[in-house]
Amino acid sequence: MGKVILTGDRPTGKLHLGHFVGSLSRRVELQESGLYEKIFIMIADAQALTDNADNPDKVRENIIEVALDYLSCGIDPERSTIFIQSQVPELCELAFYYMNLVTVQRLQRNPTVKAEIQLRGFSDNGSEEETQQRPGTPVGFFTYPISQASDITAFRATTVPVGDDQEPMIEQTREIVHKFNSVYGQTLVMPEIMLPENCACLRLPGTDGKAKMSKSLGNCIYLSDTSEEVRKKIMSMYTDPGHLRVEDPGKIEGNTVFTYLDAFCREEHFAKYLPDYESLDALKAHYRRGGLGDVKVKKFLYAILEELLAPIRERRRMYEQDIEGIYRILRLGSERARREAASTLADVRRAMRIDYFDDAELIARQAENYKNTK
Ligand code: TRP
Repeated sequence: MGKVILTGDRPTGKLHLGHFVGSLSRRVELQESGLYEKIFIMIADAQALTDNADNPDKVRENIIEVALDYLSCGIDPERSTIFIQSQVPELCELAFYYMNLVTVQRLQRNPTVKAEIQLRGFSDNGSEEETQQRPGTPVGFFTYPISQASDITAFRATTVPVGDDQEPMIEQTREIVHKFNSVYGQTLVMPEIMLPENCACLRLPGTDGKAKMSKSLGNCIYLSDTSEEVRKKIMSMYTDPGHLRVEDPGKIEGNTVFTYLDAFCREEHFAKYLPDYESLDALKAHYRRGGLGDVKVKKFLYAILEELLAPIRERRRMYEQDIEGIYRILRLGSERARREAASTLADVRRAMRIDYFDDAELIARQAENYKNTK
């Protein structure tokens, strides 16, 4: 049996460079590798609604944005099935059955869910400074790891390429698969997580130097940003606050511009854009010694990012002219995804012995039984 990929994103905003290094570029590579029999890329609108119940329009409007970002990065709908989670209702049914295999206590221990409950102000014992205290945690939100197990198993995914924040979800999915298979017999495929390789790529910091690029922090470079927006964001990026004059020695650690260079810079970029240096190590050494200004390094980073982003931006402009066509792609993808999930659901129902009408033996046996009591 061939390998199958399932992964996805919540449509709560446009995708940014953090998504690109953390997942999008990887997906395109995996698609190009030809090593995978099937690839499913899901726009997780139902999951987005678990903590946006009061904001359906945000989710609705962002589906097209995420789809545009996917296509412009090179996800090819001929080779990767792009679909919308809510359009595959089989996923809900699977989740309902999996709920019986997970305890409340186990969900409460899920570190990502724990952190997110704090972050979103759902907890009733949150800290004072949390601005948007809410009355409690929605059950749907609390149980989204189970719904994620449905997403993964419905497509018989062997491989789930995600960021390290998703590790607890894959672990929980694996437990569900193990439990299901031991109770009902070998049915579900055991998935494996695939983490990003390069450590600078694992989590790209925001342009302000904060640990994570995130829409809510307003520190993102979006794939859909114009060249001028990208330039401005880079020029105001966080560097080394102690590096005031060009002559001063500068720090590399925690210097966001250099973290980005670690993630994006390749040998050939020097010959092209900064021929005075032959490598990133040489550039870093000069910065540490002093005598290298931030602006020069930032211009170099801008050149590198533009080389990457300009073609993506251009493809996006092209796709933006055919929104109807993109909805057609999403509809076809969702139909294909649905067929796949329905087939897994049939296996699950059979394994759980809730396939009554298909079980001639059951009906015949019970009929026979009652005939004898006549
Ligand atoms: N939780 C993921 C995120 O926030 C999105 C997601 C939903 C997902 N279902 C998934 C990722 C299944 C991988 C597999 O980014």
